[in-house]
Amino acid sequence: MTDQHQHDVLIIGSGAAGLSLALQLAENAQVAVLSKSALVEGATYYAQGGVSAVLDTCDSIESHVQDTLDSGAGLCNPDVVRFVVEHGRESIQWLIGLGVNFTKTKDAEGKLDYHLNQEGGHSHRRIVHAADCTGRAIETTLEQRVKQHQNIELFEHHAAIDLITAEKLGQTPNRCLGAYVYDRRRGCISVFSARLVVLATGGAGKVYLYTSNPDTCTGDGIAMAWRAGCDIANMEFVQFHPTCLYHPQAKSLLISEALRGEGARLLLSNGEPFMNKYDPRGELAPRDIVARAIDHEMKRRGDDCIYLDISHKPDEFIIEHFPTIYESCRKFGFDLCKDPVPVVPAAHYTCGGIVIDKRGRTNLCGLYSIGEASCSGLHGANRMASNSLLECVVYAHSACKDIDDRLKSVSLPDGLPDWDESQVTDSDEEVVVSHNWDEIRRFMWDYVGIVRTSKRLQRALNRIQLLQQEIHDYYGNFRITDDLIELRNVSTVAEIIIQSALQRKESRGLHYSLDYPEPDKRGPARDTVMSIHTLKGDHQAA
Ligand code: FAD
Ligand code: SIN
Repeated sequence: MTDQHQHDVLIIGSGAAGLSLALQLAENAQVAVLSKSALVEGATYYAQGGVSAVLDTCDSIESHVQDTLDSGAGLCNPDVVRFVVEHGRESIQWLIGLGVNFTKTKDAEGKLDYHLNQEGGHSHRRIVHAADCTGRAIETTLEQRVKQHQNIELFEHHAAIDLITAEKLGQTPNRCLGAYVYDRRRGCISVFSARLVVLATGGAGKVYLYTSNPDTCTGDGIAMAWRAGCDIANMEFVQFHPTCLYHPQAKSLLISEALRGEGARLLLSNGEPFMNKYDPRGELAPRDIVARAIDHEMKRRGDDCIYLDISHKPDEFIIEHFPTIYESCRKFGFDLCKDPVPVVPAAHYTCGGIVIDKRGRTNLCGLYSIGEASCSGLHGANRMASNSLLECVVYAHSACKDIDDRLKSVSLPDGLPDWDESQVTDSDEEVVVSHNWDEIRRFMWDYVGIVRTSKRLQRALNRIQLLQQEIHDYYGNFRITDDLIELRNVSTVAEIIIQSALQRKESRGLHYSLDYPEPDKRGPARDTVMSIHTLKGDHQAA
């Protein structure tokens, strides 16, 4: 017998986006929050640099808007950019009000105020942070707050498998009714029904072999929305962070761009700096430019890595500003105070995702999405550093307002069917799952990475389509496991990335093709929008 759960709102995901929304909604609604791992595990917890907002008197909304538009390479929605930037200050104040302990410093007159970091693409210092582990400060504060709220029910180690829609049940009009959810500890599947459902499942860095992302980032929400018929946009824009530690055991260890904001230089193995050859902003150029420059230099010289050097700064400064990164590097035998450290780019952020409007609504009635899983129009073809946590909080507020307004008029779905396991058996070939995982992540890295060609993309498409068929058959025949849920999602997201990249016959932002090395200047920049119904479709950017 399947467990049935009913709530006003089901939030799938417990990062900055999901928990911020849950806290606000819980004032007026019964909320369920699902987390497929431990509650705090997700990209938010690992965020380093901080949250961008206009707080300095020398800075301006216009400047933050312009920097975001420039980084986005012509593909941001200007109205959305302004909306998010204008809500920066109040979002930071909301976090401070909850108890997030951002780092303070004394100004010229000795007054204590928030210390502001600088990162790539920003023409001002405008990033509030909690030393070098901002995400941990935000996520653990949110965790404490949601755990105290009686209207929030938390389901850790519960992975959503698929959305339940009226259409799938043969009903009209179509709307989202809930989700089938796998309890990873008990190994059983429950039905969660809700008036409204929110996907806050984060990004998809795990589609790539090398990534700064934690294991939760397998694009589940994007794949579930895809299967439910939602529009998905701009998935070709995968951001590679320029500086992850290069060491065989240093899985996912990011070295924050904030180091470059404090003067760290990127060096070749012979000690030469090179960034000024590529951009007048040097080390603080937007990430797409820096990652491509590194990729070019590594290939040109046949080097396995380049180096990041902040050792010219005083030891106390480095240890005070970057205590966690300093300690993590030391564990791998590198001393930031003494030597340059070896770094390489790795997949970091999914700029595309589930298409939403300013209220977080998707094009499936009753379904919202916020945070990295969504594509709001803020990031365009390349997200500017530290704009993501800001987006999570701003959209949590706007989605909350819309959900509050709607909630009473939406009925609670009743009698959703149990998960049907009558046709499946236990797998006797788990190796197929692990093999396919590895294969996808490797060819995505090799063929759909920082620099692309149509031939390599086509090669990747042929492979993913073969694997998709195999995974589809496997899914149809065998009982659900954690790895199978994620493999199915990773393969779906990989195919959407490849298809989107093949459709973009130009280079723009994070999508660089040797076959089309220039931006297409024949008209306005266009989003790549696809759904399972259309697969192909090219709509003009709003
Ligand atoms: P996440 O924080 O990733 O949370 C996703 C949640 O969804 C998790 O709880 C996960 O368990 C859950 N989930 C996923 N799939 C399922 C499923 N099937 N069922 C149930 N639950 C599911 N951005 C900045 O703005 N500033 C920074 O300084 C910064 N630094 C970063 C450093 C690192 C190392 C990384 C990886 C990212 C960084 N980013 C930064 C990006 C930023 O952290 C993320 O974009 C942001 O935290 C995403 O928040 P989110 O709530 O959308 O997703
Ligand atoms: C970093 O600290 O370099 C990451 C910031 C971000 O991804 O926004």
